[in-house]
Amino acid sequence: MSKSALNSKPIGVFDSGIGGLTVVRALLEKLPNENIVYFGDTARVPYGSKSPQVVREYTQDDTDFLISKDVKMIVVACNTVSAVALDIVQKKANIPVTGVIIPGAEAAMKSTKNKRIGVIGTIGTVNSNAYKNELKRLNHSVNVFSKACPLFVPLVEEGWLDYKATELVASEYLFPLTTEKIDTLILGCTHYPLLKSVIAKVTKGMVTLIDSGEATADAVVQMLDEKGLRNTSSEQPNVQFYVSDAPDKFTSVGEIFLGRKLGVVRRVNVGK
Ligand code: DGL
Repeated sequence: MSKSALNSKPIGVFDSGIGGLTVVRALLEKLPNENIVYFGDTARVPYGSKSPQVVREYTQDDTDFLISKDVKMIVVACNTVSAVALDIVQKKANIPVTGVIIPGAEAAMKSTKNKRIGVIGTIGTVNSNAYKNELKRLNHSVNVFSKACPLFVPLVEEGWLDYKATELVASEYLFPLTTEKIDTLILGCTHYPLLKSVIAKVTKGMVTLIDSGEATADAVVQMLDEKGLRNTSSEQPNVQFYVSDAPDKFTSVGEIFLGRKLGVVRRVNVGK
């Protein structure tokens, strides 16, 4: 295969559902020339409250789907999958793979001054200690304070971004972290970037918020450059969306996450 044919293959991105569109948004900003295939497992979302065993099973199917689309690399947008099943994707795919944990942890490490970092995410992500372990690997003297925030995902999917109720929930969740004097907070879930302004408000602007999706998009730029895999074609790039349940809600709510219209969303069957 010619180099330009290889480079014009799409980047594959998957998530448990709709949230990974925040990562696609960051990718589109930093890599406007790339073709992208996105898969959201909307029939089986949420992953964040499920056991690691089940998430690992689903991850096999998600990975197989993207491989069938002949992608040149895989971005695991879902924090929960990145935390408990990244090894499965790496083993199955014979192409470059990145999750969101390492880029998010590295960005937090660069930002912190007092080495007191907060991590918020789903129950699965927080219980896995994946961010904490990575942060400690980068610098063993760092102090990490983690908190699962399971109500954030439904609030965001309901479009309650700027609501009093969301602010109350955020204060409740984040109070224990602010009393620990964190100066940096990792938004360790695909949905949380949409709550940046509420989170900034309840932490009184005292904490640097790390969007792990954005950090991951930077890591993707670096990986493509290192491997000489950037798309150099002058053709209009193509972004394709696939989901495992009926596309209606994904198409309408997806706009909030992506910041633009999605176009056609196709339904596919994955797994058994
Ligand atoms: N995409 C998931 C994550 O980033 C959040 C939604 C879910 O629980 O599936 O962890």
